[in-house]
Amino acid sequence: METNNTINVMPRIGDNAPAFTAKTTQGEINFPTDYKGMWKILFSHPADFTPVCTSEFMSFGKLADEFKKLNTQLVGLSVDGLYSHIAWLRTIKEKIDWKGMKNMEIQFPLIEDITMNVAKMYGMIQPGESTTSAVRAVFFIDPQDKIRTIMYYPLSLGRNFDEILRVLKGLQTADNFGVALPADWHPGEEVIVPTAGSCGVAKERMQSSEDEMHCYDWFFCTKKLSKEDVEKKLYK
Ligand code: BEZ
Repeated sequence: METNNTINVMPRIGDNAPAFTAKTTQGEINFPTDYKGMWKILFSHPADFTPVCTSEFMSFGKLADEFKKLNTQLVGLSVDGLYSHIAWLRTIKEKIDWKGMKNMEIQFPLIEDITMNVAKMYGMIQPGESTTSAVRAVFFIDPQDKIRTIMYYPLSLGRNFDEILRVLKGLQTADNFGVALPADWHPGEEVIVPTAGSCGVAKERMQSSEDEMHCYDWFFCTKKLSKEDVEKKLYK
């Protein structure tokens, strides 16, 4: 197992996204600066020309318009080289027909990271899983370039794209409406009204129907937030 310190760096929620420049399938990028004012999803996959990764890329490709409407830039990464990336993406477009997805053109940048510089910077190399490839990491980075959510999946399990979208919409909804979201929340479902430090206020609210608020107890109050209102705010 590698003990080099740089391999053990794990960015945390609330940290500024580490900056880097890199070669990608869409030219050189300066991350996160090139995507000012946008949300970013920086994700890694273990290797080109592998089946789980192919299914994931097709899923990202299928949702590309949805991410665009949510003002979100996708950036992929693996420790493969640029020519491998280009050949793999071409194969996906020309040959793979999976679950009704075909002719899938991946238009977001895919970073070549043979040196593992970026992968190490983002804690994507997890030696217990693999010393030679990145795990399936997903970093959700907000328009202020802060890391807001991190997911790590092992090599053998493809990510859940409903959850990736749900997390993105949840973070954007929390920011736009000043609310928190309960377990399994989806747009259109009740949201949590923050009550921290305002027990008195919450108690008062328990007796009122203001904002159609419902309190289960003094520390747990929810209100309605329609799917329409969420979508009006989130979609560009
Ligand atoms: C895959 O994407 O299928 C895969 C990649 C690396 C290890 C195992 C599976």
